[in-house]
Amino acid sequence: MSISTPIREAAEYINKHLGTVKNPIGIILGTGLGEFASEIEDAVEVPYSQIPHFPQSTVEGHDGKLIHGRLEGQEVLAMKGRFHFYEGYGMEHVVFPIRVMKYLNARFLLLSNASGGVNPDFKVGDIMVIEDHINLFPSNPLIGPNDDEMGPRFPDMSEPYDHKLNAQMHVAASQVGIPLKKGVYVGVSGPCFETPAEYKYIRIIGGDTVGMSTVPENIAARHLGIPVTALSVITDLGIEGHVEEVSHEEVQRAAQEAEPKMAKVVRAFFANLS
Ligand code: HPA
Repeated sequence: MSISTPIREAAEYINKHLGTVKNPIGIILGTGLGEFASEIEDAVEVPYSQIPHFPQSTVEGHDGKLIHGRLEGQEVLAMKGRFHFYEGYGMEHVVFPIRVMKYLNARFLLLSNASGGVNPDFKVGDIMVIEDHINLFPSNPLIGPNDDEMGPRFPDMSEPYDHKLNAQMHVAASQVGIPLKKGVYVGVSGPCFETPAEYKYIRIIGGDTVGMSTVPENIAARHLGIPVTALSVITDLGIEGHVEEVSHEEVQRAAQEAEPKMAKVVRAFFANLS
């Protein structure tokens, strides 16, 4: 892959400071899910502020560090804190870490997020495996000149979330007795939460959950040919007739409460991988 100088410099710094990264599973920990990072064994970490060209996260509850270590025998490289479009970053900054992950030879990505449930079968605290997404961001990280060595000008998106990895996630979840939902994640810019009419619209167009991340990262990863699996923790509900007031604090609290469940599923998933 031809690589822009900032991506290469960031990756080289990471390799120097975290010990050689070989073939990790890349993990992005969403809002309220950062505690998971403390489960990583033999962890070596570096704050984003020290990595050349890495954007800095500005949101409360997003710590901003990269952690390299092992979990259930698997090499992992986890991002505690991600970059959101609503923070004012250009899409190229939102997806910068994904491109660094490619340069660091990530075998696949496990993305996680907090989201609002619009499927009436969902409850707060449920975890959904993302099967597909709808991009309602006003942009796309691939707009602009294409680097043909990163990926094609018009990337295929027929399998945005890897069927095999998703199936393995369901197997792992049933082994630990935590049933998972599955469905479509609708990505929006935020930062305001949705109006009742918007939640209704999101349901009508085929969404099961809505959130402010993940979609740009998925698009960048698929452009690079990296397989993706993703988990969405439902932190609030936007169900017609039951739309309640929602705050970032509530989203964080609900995600933190569900985090041990997610950790259990992910551990079982990793333990099953060869
Ligand atoms: N809408 C958008 N993003 C979110 C929500 C929501 O209801 N909950 C958590 N992230």
